[in-house]
Amino acid sequence: MGLQGERTAQWFQRSQNALVNGVSSMFRYWGPDDTPVIDRGEGGHVYDMDGNRYIDYQLGFGPVILGHGHPKVVTAVAEAAADGTTFAMTQRREIEAAEVIRKAIPWAEGIRFSNTGTEATMHSLRIARAYTGKDVVLKFEGQYHGVHDYVLFSTASVDPSTFGSRYAPIAVQVSSGIPESIRSYVRTVPYNDLDALERVFRNHSEEIAAVIVEPMLGNAFGIMPQPGFLEGVRAICDEYEAVLIFDEVKTGFRIALGGAQEYFGVTPDIAAFAKAMGNGFPVAAIAARGGILDAWAKGGIAQAGTYAGNGVAAAAAYATVSELATGEPYAQIEKVGRSLMEGLERILRDHSVDGCVLGVPAMFSVFLGEGEVKDFRDATRHDSDLYEEVCYGMIRRGVMPCPDALEPWFICASHTEEDVATTLQAFEEALVEALD
Ligand SMILES: Cc1ncc(COP(=O)(O)O)c(C=O)c1O
Repeated sequence: MGLQGERTAQWFQRSQNALVNGVSSMFRYWGPDDTPVIDRGEGGHVYDMDGNRYIDYQLGFGPVILGHGHPKVVTAVAEAAADGTTFAMTQRREIEAAEVIRKAIPWAEGIRFSNTGTEATMHSLRIARAYTGKDVVLKFEGQYHGVHDYVLFSTASVDPSTFGSRYAPIAVQVSSGIPESIRSYVRTVPYNDLDALERVFRNHSEEIAAVIVEPMLGNAFGIMPQPGFLEGVRAICDEYEAVLIFDEVKTGFRIALGGAQEYFGVTPDIAAFAKAMGNGFPVAAIAARGGILDAWAKGGIAQAGTYAGNGVAAAAAYATVSELATGEPYAQIEKVGRSLMEGLERILRDHSVDGCVLGVPAMFSVFLGEGEVKDFRDATRHDSDLYEEVCYGMIRRGVMPCPDALEPWFICASHTEEDVATTLQAFEEALVEALD
C-alpha cells in the first residue's frame, strides 16, 4: 500500500499529466504511489490533499526555519507584493534586507542578492576564478552545491564505491548532459581528509582557483567536520592562494544567525546563502570580503539576474532575518532539536540497533550502521532499506522526515515539545515494526 490517500492519488494523477513525472524537482519524486501532494502548511506541519496532517521535518529541504506561513513574513511579503515587486533599479526593501544580513554576517564586507542556491554557488565560483585567474574548482565528495554543470560531480546521488582511491579520487559526473570537458575543471576529495586535500594541492596548485565546501555535510547525513578540519582547509587555501568558498545554502541562518562561519569560527573568502534566509521564499546572496570583493566591484565579472533583490524576496529576507536576530527562534530550535536527537539515539540503543544521530539540533540525520561516520564513503555502511521502511512507518503515523537519510531532518521554531513526543513514539513504533 502506497502513502497516497484517495484524493492525493487523484491529484498526483493530475500532476503527472501536467508536470514531468508529476514534480518540479527530481528530489520530490518518491514513486507513483508514494509521492506526496501537499495542500498547505501551517507552522511545523503540512497537510496533504486528503487532509492528513504531518509534522514536517523536510521544511522545503531546509528553508522554512520559522514555520510555514509565519505571520511576520506573510505580512511583509503581502505589503511588498502590493507595492510592485520587480524594478530595473535598486529598491528600498533590497537595501533594508542587505543591511540586516550584513549585520548577521559581519565578516562579509559586501553582498549581492540572487534567487537560488544554485545561482549563488555558480556566481561564487566565477568570482573566485576571475580573482585568481585559475580555472579548477575543488569540491568534496557527498556535497551538493546546486544544479549547474561545475558542481554536479561526486554528490551524494552517486554510489561512493565509484569514487576510486582516496589517494587519487575520481570526480564522478552525476547527470547526463554535462559536457565531458567540464570534468577537467573539477577535482574531488573525501570530506574530513586534509591529507587528500593537501596532496591535490601539491600536485595541482597552479590550476586550483577555489575550494567550495559545505561546512557540514548538509546533503549527506549531516556529517560534521572533525576538529581542525575547516581550519586546515582555510590554511591550505591560504598557502596555495586559492579562494575558500563556504556553501552556506543549508547552514546559513540555520545553525546560527551567522551560519557556519559563526558556528565553527572559520571565515571563508566568499559564501553562498539561500534557504533559511527567506523562510521559504526564493532569495539567495553571494557574500565576499577583502581583495575579492574589490575585484568584483571593479567590474568585468558578470553577475546579474532579473529577479535578484526583488521586493517580495527582499521583504521575506528582511522579516526572516530580523526575527531570527531576536535569538528566540534559535532557542526553540535548540530545545526541540536536542530532545529529538537524544530521544532518537536512546531508542536506537534501547532496541540494540547500530546507528547514531549526526549533525546539530537545527539539522541532523539518523545513520543506521556501525562505526564512526567521517565522510560520504562511510555511507556504504548505512542501511538505507531499513531507514526508508522506518520513515514510511513514521509518515503513516503523521511524522514526515525525508525517507532518504542523506537529507537531514530540519527543525523550525514552530516545532513543539508535543511534536517531539509524537515523533519519538512514531519512530519507536515504526522501528519495531520494521525490525519484526
Ligand atoms: C548546500 C546546498 N547548496 C546549494 C543548493 C542549491 O540550492 P537551490 O536548490 O536553491 O538551487 C542546495 C540545495 O539543496 C544545497 O543544499
